[in-house]
Amino acid sequence: MKKGLFITFEGGDGSGKTTQINLLKDYLKSKNIEAITVREPGGVSISEKIRCLILDNQNTDMDKITEMLLYAAARAQLVSQVILPALNQGRAVICDRFVDSSYVYQGFARGLGIDVVQNVNNIATQKLVPDITFFMDIDPTTAMNRRLNCGNPDRLESEGVSFQEKVYEGYIELSKMFPNRIKTINASLGIEEIFSDIKKHTDILLKTFEI
Ligand code: TYD
Repeated sequence: MKKGLFITFEGGDGSGKTTQINLLKDYLKSKNIEAITVREPGGVSISEKIRCLILDNQNTDMDKITEMLLYAAARAQLVSQVILPALNQGRAVICDRFVDSSYVYQGFARGLGIDVVQNVNNIATQKLVPDITFFMDIDPTTAMNRRLNCGNPDRLESEGVSFQEKVYEGYIELSKMFPNRIKTINASLGIEEIFSDIKKHTDILLKTFEI
Protein backbone atom coordinates (compact mmCIF):
# COMPACT_ATOMS: atom_id res chain seq x y z
CA MET A 1 0.00 0.00 0.00
CA LYS A 2 1.16 3.50 -0.87
CA LYS A 3 2.25 5.38 2.26
CA GLY A 4 4.60 7.99 0.80
CA LEU A 5 4.01 11.29 -0.95
CA PHE A 6 3.96 11.48 -4.71
CA ILE A 7 4.74 14.96 -6.08
CA THR A 8 5.04 15.81 -9.77
CA PHE A 9 6.23 18.86 -11.71
CA GLU A 10 4.85 19.80 -15.10
CA GLY A 11 5.32 22.58 -17.62
CA GLY A 12 6.57 23.38 -21.08
CA ASP A 13 10.20 22.98 -22.08
CA GLY A 14 12.40 25.51 -20.25
CA SER A 15 9.86 26.29 -17.51
CA GLY A 16 12.44 25.91 -14.71
CA LYS A 17 11.26 22.64 -13.12
CA THR A 18 14.70 21.27 -12.25
CA THR A 19 15.74 24.16 -9.99
CA GLN A 20 12.47 23.96 -8.04
CA ILE A 21 12.63 20.16 -7.75
CA ASN A 22 16.06 20.42 -6.13
CA LEU A 23 14.89 23.13 -3.73
CA LEU A 24 11.84 21.04 -2.76
CA LYS A 25 13.97 17.95 -2.17
CA ASP A 26 16.21 19.95 0.22
CA TYR A 27 13.16 21.44 1.94
CA LEU A 28 11.64 18.00 2.56
CA LYS A 29 15.01 16.80 3.87
CA SER A 30 15.07 19.69 6.34
CA LYS A 31 11.76 18.28 7.63
CA ASN A 32 13.26 14.77 7.91
CA ILE A 33 11.34 13.51 4.91
CA GLU A 34 13.50 11.46 2.63
CA ALA A 35 12.72 12.23 -1.00
CA ILE A 36 13.96 10.70 -4.20
CA THR A 37 13.85 12.55 -7.51
CA VAL A 38 13.27 10.97 -10.91
CA ARG A 39 12.63 12.31 -14.39
CA GLU A 40 10.43 11.25 -17.26
CA PRO A 41 10.96 9.85 -19.76
CA GLY A 42 13.82 7.96 -18.08
CA GLY A 43 14.81 7.52 -14.47
CA VAL A 44 15.96 3.89 -14.79
CA SER A 45 18.19 2.16 -17.31
CA ILE A 46 15.44 0.63 -19.51
CA SER A 47 13.45 3.87 -19.54
CA GLU A 48 16.56 5.95 -20.33
CA LYS A 49 17.07 3.74 -23.41
CA ILE A 50 13.47 4.38 -24.46
CA ARG A 51 14.10 8.12 -23.83
CA CYS A 52 16.97 8.13 -26.35
CA LEU A 53 14.68 6.56 -28.93
CA ILE A 54 11.88 9.06 -28.34
CA LEU A 55 13.98 12.23 -28.28
CA ASP A 56 16.37 11.26 -31.10
CA ASN A 57 16.25 14.04 -33.71
CA GLN A 58 16.70 11.46 -36.47
CA ASN A 59 13.33 9.83 -35.69
CA THR A 60 11.37 12.46 -37.59
CA ASP A 61 8.94 9.84 -38.95
CA MET A 62 7.83 8.55 -35.55
CA ASP A 63 4.08 7.96 -35.52
CA LYS A 64 2.20 9.80 -32.75
CA ILE A 65 0.74 6.52 -31.42
CA THR A 66 4.23 4.99 -31.30
CA GLU A 67 5.36 8.09 -29.42
CA MET A 68 2.53 7.81 -26.87
CA LEU A 69 3.18 4.10 -26.32
CA LEU A 70 6.91 4.63 -25.86
CA TYR A 71 6.31 7.31 -23.21
CA ALA A 72 3.88 4.93 -21.50
CA ALA A 73 6.36 2.04 -21.71
CA ALA A 74 9.13 4.13 -20.15
CA ARG A 75 6.66 5.17 -17.44
CA ALA A 76 5.52 1.61 -16.68
CA GLN A 77 9.10 0.56 -15.98
CA LEU A 78 9.83 3.58 -13.78
CA VAL A 79 6.60 3.14 -11.81
CA SER A 80 7.12 -0.54 -11.10
CA GLN A 81 10.88 -0.43 -10.54
CA VAL A 82 11.27 2.79 -8.54
CA ILE A 83 8.19 4.90 -7.80
CA LEU A 84 5.82 2.34 -6.29
CA PRO A 85 8.49 0.58 -4.18
CA ALA A 86 9.64 3.94 -2.77
CA LEU A 87 6.07 5.08 -2.01
CA ASN A 88 5.28 1.74 -0.39
CA GLN A 89 8.27 2.23 1.90
CA GLY A 90 6.82 5.60 2.95
CA ARG A 91 9.29 7.77 1.06
CA ALA A 92 8.49 10.90 -0.93
CA VAL A 93 8.97 10.77 -4.69
CA ILE A 94 9.38 13.94 -6.74
CA CYS A 95 8.93 13.25 -10.42
CA ASP A 96 9.92 15.64 -13.23
CA ARG A 97 6.86 15.05 -15.50
CA PHE A 98 4.31 12.22 -15.32
CA VAL A 99 1.05 11.25 -17.09
CA ASP A 100 -0.05 14.91 -17.36
CA SER A 101 2.78 15.41 -19.90
CA SER A 102 1.28 12.65 -22.04
CA TYR A 103 -2.21 14.20 -21.72
CA VAL A 104 -0.86 17.53 -22.87
CA TYR A 105 1.83 16.63 -25.44
CA GLN A 106 0.29 13.48 -26.98
CA GLY A 107 -3.40 13.89 -26.09
CA PHE A 108 -3.75 17.62 -26.70
CA ALA A 109 -0.86 18.92 -28.83
CA ARG A 110 -0.59 15.81 -31.04
CA GLY A 111 -4.38 15.43 -31.03
CA LEU A 112 -4.74 11.84 -29.80
CA GLY A 113 -7.32 12.88 -27.20
CA ILE A 114 -7.35 12.54 -23.43
CA ASP A 115 -9.34 9.26 -23.33
CA VAL A 116 -6.86 7.27 -25.43
CA VAL A 117 -3.93 8.54 -23.38
CA GLN A 118 -5.78 7.80 -20.15
CA ASN A 119 -6.66 4.22 -21.13
CA VAL A 120 -3.07 3.37 -22.06
CA ASN A 121 -1.63 5.10 -19.01
CA ASN A 122 -3.99 3.45 -16.54
CA ILE A 123 -2.15 0.25 -17.46
CA ALA A 124 1.30 1.87 -17.41
CA THR A 125 0.89 3.54 -14.01
CA GLN A 126 -1.23 0.89 -12.30
CA LYS A 127 -3.60 3.85 -11.77
CA LEU A 128 -1.12 5.75 -9.61
CA VAL A 129 -2.08 9.45 -9.37
CA PRO A 130 0.13 12.20 -7.87
CA ASP A 131 -0.87 13.68 -4.50
CA ILE A 132 0.03 17.11 -5.86
CA THR A 133 1.21 18.47 -9.19
CA PHE A 134 2.96 21.79 -9.71
CA PHE A 135 2.31 23.31 -13.13
CA MET A 136 5.09 25.81 -13.86
CA ASP A 137 3.15 28.47 -15.71
CA ILE A 138 5.30 30.59 -18.04
CA ASP A 139 4.76 32.14 -21.45
CA PRO A 140 5.83 29.45 -23.98
CA THR A 141 8.01 31.76 -26.10
CA THR A 142 10.01 32.98 -23.09
CA ALA A 143 10.44 29.40 -21.87
CA MET A 144 11.50 28.13 -25.28
CA ASN A 145 14.11 30.87 -25.70
CA ARG A 146 15.45 30.09 -22.23
CA ARG A 147 15.74 26.42 -23.15
CA LEU A 148 17.31 26.98 -26.57
CA ASN A 149 20.06 29.08 -24.98
CA CYS A 150 21.14 25.94 -23.07
CA GLY A 151 22.10 23.73 -26.02
CA ASN A 152 20.77 21.73 -28.94
CA PRO A 153 17.02 21.11 -29.00
CA ASP A 154 15.73 17.49 -28.89
CA ARG A 155 13.02 16.11 -31.25
CA LEU A 156 10.11 17.54 -29.22
CA GLU A 157 11.77 20.91 -28.66
CA SER A 158 12.43 21.13 -32.42
CA GLU A 159 8.65 21.21 -33.01
CA GLY A 160 8.79 25.01 -32.62
CA VAL A 161 6.79 27.69 -30.86
CA SER A 162 3.33 26.81 -32.22
CA PHE A 163 3.66 23.30 -30.74
CA GLN A 164 4.79 24.80 -27.42
CA GLU A 165 1.76 27.10 -27.52
CA LYS A 166 -0.55 24.10 -27.91
CA VAL A 167 1.26 22.42 -25.03
CA TYR A 168 0.67 25.53 -22.93
CA GLU A 169 -3.05 25.61 -23.80
CA GLY A 170 -3.21 21.91 -22.92
CA TYR A 171 -1.80 22.57 -19.45
CA ILE A 172 -4.35 25.35 -18.87
CA GLU A 173 -7.18 22.96 -19.86
CA LEU A 174 -5.79 20.16 -17.74
CA SER A 175 -5.47 22.37 -14.66
CA LYS A 176 -9.18 23.21 -15.04
CA MET A 177 -9.99 19.48 -15.20
CA PHE A 178 -8.06 18.69 -12.00
CA PRO A 179 -8.20 21.90 -9.93
CA ASN A 180 -7.62 20.18 -6.59
CA ARG A 181 -4.53 18.29 -7.61
CA ILE A 182 -2.84 20.69 -10.05
CA LYS A 183 -1.44 23.88 -8.51
CA THR A 184 -0.55 26.60 -11.00
CA ILE A 185 2.71 28.32 -10.12
CA ASN A 186 3.72 31.65 -11.67
CA ALA A 187 7.07 30.53 -13.08
CA SER A 188 8.03 33.91 -14.51
CA LEU A 189 8.89 35.20 -11.01
CA GLY A 190 12.32 34.91 -9.35
CA ILE A 191 13.54 31.54 -8.04
CA GLU A 192 12.87 32.39 -4.36
CA GLU A 193 9.37 33.73 -5.00
CA ILE A 194 8.46 30.67 -7.06
CA PHE A 195 9.73 28.38 -4.34
CA SER A 196 7.83 30.16 -1.58
CA ASP A 197 4.59 29.43 -3.49
CA ILE A 198 5.55 25.75 -3.89
CA LYS A 199 6.50 25.58 -0.19
CA LYS A 200 3.11 27.02 0.81
CA HIS A 201 1.22 24.28 -1.08
CA THR A 202 3.60 21.59 0.19
CA ASP A 203 3.10 22.64 3.82
CA ILE A 204 -0.67 22.29 3.39
CA LEU A 205 -0.18 18.84 1.85
CA LEU A 206 2.11 17.74 4.69
CA LYS A 207 -0.53 18.77 7.22
CA THR A 208 -3.16 16.73 5.34
CA PHE A 209 -0.85 13.72 5.47
CA GLU A 210 -0.04 14.51 9.12
CA ILE A 211 3.67 14.45 8.33
P1 TYD B 1 13.26 16.72 -21.35
O1 TYD B 1 14.59 17.11 -21.90
O2 TYD B 1 13.22 15.83 -20.17
O3 TYD B 1 12.38 18.03 -21.18
P2 TYD B 1 12.15 18.92 -19.91
O4 TYD B 1 13.49 19.25 -19.33
O5 TYD B 1 11.42 20.10 -20.45
O6 TYD B 1 11.29 18.10 -18.98
O7 TYD B 1 12.46 16.05 -22.57
C1 TYD B 1 11.26 15.46 -22.42
C2 TYD B 1 10.38 15.85 -23.60
O8 TYD B 1 9.37 14.86 -23.75
C3 TYD B 1 9.66 17.17 -23.37
O9 TYD B 1 9.63 17.88 -24.60
C4 TYD B 1 8.25 16.76 -23.01
C5 TYD B 1 8.09 15.46 -23.73
N1 TYD B 1 7.15 14.50 -23.11
C6 TYD B 1 6.02 14.09 -23.79
O10 TYD B 1 5.78 14.53 -24.93
N2 TYD B 1 5.19 13.18 -23.23
C7 TYD B 1 5.42 12.63 -22.00
O11 TYD B 1 4.63 11.78 -21.52
C8 TYD B 1 6.61 13.05 -21.30
C9 TYD B 1 6.92 12.49 -19.95
C10 TYD B 1 7.44 13.99 -21.88
